[in-house]
Amino acid sequence: MANLARKWIILSVEYILVLALLPSYTDAKRTKEKIYIDLQTQNACFRSLNATHQIGCTSSSEGNVGVLHYLETQDDYSWILKDGPNPPYVVLMNSLEFNSSYLDILVASQRVNGILVINVLENQTLTPFPGQFSADKSCPNDAYGMYHKDKDYSNCRKQQWNVGGTDIGMMFKDYSIPMFSLPNEDDVTKLISTCYERFNRPINGTPRNYPLCAVQLNDRMDAAKDSVTCTRRTNRITNLSNPVRYCDPLGDKNIVATMKTVNSTEQRLNKSVIVFATKMDSLAMFHNEYPASDSTVTGIVTVLAVAEALGATRQEIQDMPTAKDIMFTLFQGESFDYIGSSRMVYDMDSNSTQFPQEISEKVVSLQEIRLDDIHSFVEVSQVGLRDQGKLWIHTDPITRPKLQDPTQLSDMIQSLKSIGSRLDVDLANVTEDTPLPPASVQRFLMKANIPAIVLTDHEKQFTNKYYNSRFDLPSKINVSDHGNQSDPSDDTQTQSLTDLATTLAQFLYKLSTGKDAPSTLKANKDTVESLLQCFLYNQHCELFRRSIDPDDAESLEKAKKPFPFYVSVNLNTNQVTTLTHHILAQYLGEKVNTSKDSCKAPDNDKTHQFLWIQGNLKPNATDNSRVGACIKSTTMLTTAKSPAFDIDGYDWLSGTYSTWTESVWEPLKVRIFLVPSQQFQTTTLSLGVVIMLVSFVIVYFINEQSDILFTHPTSNRYYTY
Ligand SMILES: *[C@@H]1O[C@H](CO)[C@@H](O)[C@H](O)[C@H]1NC(C)=O
Ligand SMILES: *[C@@H]1O[C@H](CO)[C@@H](O)[C@H](O)[C@H]1NC(C)=O
Repeated sequence: MANLARKWIILSVEYILVLALLPSYTDAKRTKEKIYIDLQTQNACFRSLNATHQIGCTSSSEGNVGVLHYLETQDDYSWILKDGPNPPYVVLMNSLEFNSSYLDILVASQRVNGILVINVLENQTLTPFPGQFSADKSCPNDAYGMYHKDKDYSNCRKQQWNVGGTDIGMMFKDYSIPMFSLPNEDDVTKLISTCYERFNRPINGTPRNYPLCAVQLNDRMDAAKDSVTCTRRTNRITNLSNPVRYCDPLGDKNIVATMKTVNSTEQRLNKSVIVFATKMDSLAMFHNEYPASDSTVTGIVTVLAVAEALGATRQEIQDMPTAKDIMFTLFQGESFDYIGSSRMVYDMDSNSTQFPQEISEKVVSLQEIRLDDIHSFVEVSQVGLRDQGKLWIHTDPITRPKLQDPTQLSDMIQSLKSIGSRLDVDLANVTEDTPLPPASVQRFLMKANIPAIVLTDHEKQFTNKYYNSRFDLPSKINVSDHGNQSDPSDDTQTQSLTDLATTLAQFLYKLSTGKDAPSTLKANKDTVESLLQCFLYNQHCELFRRSIDPDDAESLEKAKKPFPFYVSVNLNTNQVTTLTHHILAQYLGEKVNTSKDSCKAPDNDKTHQFLWIQGNLKPNATDNSRVGACIKSTTMLTTAKSPAFDIDGYDWLSGTYSTWTESVWEPLKVRIFLVPSQQFQTTTLSLGVVIMLVSFVIVYFINEQSDILFTHPTSNRYYTY
């Protein structure tokens, strides 16, 4: 008991001392308590790693702190870079100046401890659009494409594609400080009015007195150095039941679906499969901001619309033995050195792996497809912003002269153009010595000479001035949010993509069967309209709701806006992949009248996948319940993880396969608070020291005198203090 009593006395004495000494400081303290605001943004620049580098951002483990300064004029830059008396600063800047040159200067000054970028897209006064911007390189993916090391074409020597990008690419640099984007107007108001204008903005060039308003940015990344290091640390065998992860490989799933079903007893013939492909991912500097409208969505929408149109001819093509199969293919992870396509080529080419490969028990294997089985390759790239009103056909100058049948490629181009001209779709080809723009097919052409065309909206440099960036917005491809409007007035883009899909459907039909397509073979404009709205504006749309697995319905309700097109880590399947997969299955497959429990492949069916989706609303239902539907199709998911992570003893520096990983991170947080003056901080510290010394004396005194102070019965209980 004596110990406890002693503890109480000591604490009380300390408390009295504190109360006696504190009043002079409570003013500042009270203001501080009043302002301690957490911002909503979670849109951080984060760290990724490849075999040799780390890129992106991180904060220190306690977060980076700095006095807030809003960069409004050039004077503010000199304030931050040299005149301001209270570094380090956290700067708030607008989107026009958030580019490579300004960023490099700010980071190099060592007076900037964090960056906040205004990105309130509904408010153009706050966020005016730059004329061009891309977080990617000016020659994207070059080091992993087919022209790497080519004397004529490497490093976009002949044609610089991505004019909005920079040589190294803004997101491919390593920044030592944290950065967040601010999509929310509330956050910006708090920073500008509540924090900056009230406490920090210099008055006529004179710095303000304390307290000043500071910002703390927490964006701590666990991985460091490179993928090799963090993977080794992650895989290190520990005795802990929960091994610590530092980084995870980027990756997801590719989607493939064939028109024909080839039984396991049959073999595919050489050159019997037409690959019709696009990519599903994009990149940008800040988490959650990958609108990808022209970069990615126009391609996905076109491929799906073609699938729906051709779905109607499936039985006919199936029944025609000489018809070529058509494999619809959507690649993931292409923005990070061609993850999905390089994996598919690896699986098709290697003796130890097989394509398509089962990746889950739900999936059954289609009949194997090897590189030799590919007849031709048609890829849809960005198609939303037509250069001179035309779509452009690109081919590869290196493999073209090596093709087995030299006329096949020119016949394809001729056929595509003439079908287009009948449908008012203006198609032109680029000059023969122009290399391919960044495209998944490059990974195939590195291994095989296949007649290949890539369809884009640009003849030379990208017409999309916001390729792979947070500005690749639906409004930039002239698609507006139609909400519940059933008959929107501005449907030019919808019409253009529908006509393109019709052209491609008829072209593929002809390429497969050798016959002219019936004029009834048409893409559906309503489908194109819904797809654009669902992917660009409204993920709660009917098409997505109908297509999702009931078990995932909740995740759709929580889906982020804009819909995320970042490949992310290889741990679970991306929502965009799942939805695209289910929509493709409906377009190419058939509904089976069966219950959820019996919606699975019979034992003897090795060529179809059975999917259960929510289906349409029940007629007359008041509770939004849905009928459910079982879809039987050849649509399946295949691995889109870089072979680098699966090959034993892979040479990390060989540059053959993508080595990108993403760091694991601590909770992200941005908060505003007031910092008292230096003098206040010093006094608080001194006060602490005084209290401590006084307590020592008291403890010493009480200990010495304890026998006199406390007379107590013998106690055998033990307390720790
Ligand atoms: C890793 O990324 C950096 C930055 O983009 C690049 O310079 C380097 O060549 C890459 N390393 C590999 C092995 O791809
Ligand atoms: C589907 O199956 C149910 C029960 O087996 C049957 O009552 C119904 O008529 C079937 N619907 C169709 C469209 O075949």
